[in-house]
Amino acid sequence: MKALLATEKPFAKTAVDGMKAIFDAAGIETVLLEKCTENGEFLKAVADVDALIVRSDKVGKDVIAAAKNLKVVVRAGAGYDNLDLEACTARGIVAMNTPGQNANAVAELAIGMMIFMARNNFETGTGAELKGKKLGIHAYGNVGRIVAMLGKGFGMEVYAFDPFVAKEAIEKDGVKVLATAEELYSTCHYISLHIPATEKTKKSISKVLLSRMLKGAVLVNTARKEVINEAELVDLMKERLDLKYISDIAPDCHAEMKDKFGTRYFSTIKKIGAETAEANINAGLASANQIVAYFKTGDKKFQVNK
Ligand code: 3PG
Repeated sequence: MKALLATEKPFAKTAVDGMKAIFDAAGIETVLLEKCTENGEFLKAVADVDALIVRSDKVGKDVIAAAKNLKVVVRAGAGYDNLDLEACTARGIVAMNTPGQNANAVAELAIGMMIFMARNNFETGTGAELKGKKLGIHAYGNVGRIVAMLGKGFGMEVYAFDPFVAKEAIEKDGVKVLATAEELYSTCHYISLHIPATEKTKKSISKVLLSRMLKGAVLVNTARKEVINEAELVDLMKERLDLKYISDIAPDCHAEMKDKFGTRYFSTIKKIGAETAEANINAGLASANQIVAYFKTGDKKFQVNK
């Protein structure tokens, strides 16, 4: 049996070594395809493997069609918008993610981004403190929960909006629950986005919603660029010279935003939220263990194409 680890952004060596050791112990051969940017290379490598591990790497219809023996694919991370679930299901391939395994890394980056914006992009000049400011968590999942906890550590007043999480579960963390996204955006100085990219959420962060933001407020996006209506965000930032946007992954209109908004805008070029050794190890080992468990016992706990 063969498992392919195909990643454009390679995992830390310790993570790869650990994954190999898990597969070795289970009698599974590891095939490594790192820094993979050529789809042709990926299609060739996937041809005879039984299991596949990816990060944000796109697993579309072409990959599924080429992967004749594939039985399980694991997205080593949280967001699985890069997997064509329909194509997987049509072939009886189990698709999984590793929820929570890289959440701390992403949450720490979100707080780091808030400080970066509060302190003039680390340039000279009087900045502001996070202490005493209102932090709004948009979606209270694994990452949102940690951002809330860290925000409280900084003395922020934390609010959340998540229609899919019970009010009591959020309140027990000392976080105030708001009933609508509109309320969240009009209440908080920092909005930290943690919604997944789905057909429903794509472009859902609109001008109407964003125009509710407080004077000088900051939108922090460590989720997905696709959830933002970029044209409307640009429009609004042209009208509202006080608003700031910081994103972990360049928007399609990165060049325009960089040019127009100066220090009110910053983006990483490639997503770095989960780029820590710890997150690589957590998500990488979890992926390998989930594959072994699936082959050994049929365990599908983290299946996302049910
Ligand atoms: C995730 O969804 O887990 C994060 O966005 C991390 O993505 P990455 O593995 O491509 O860094």
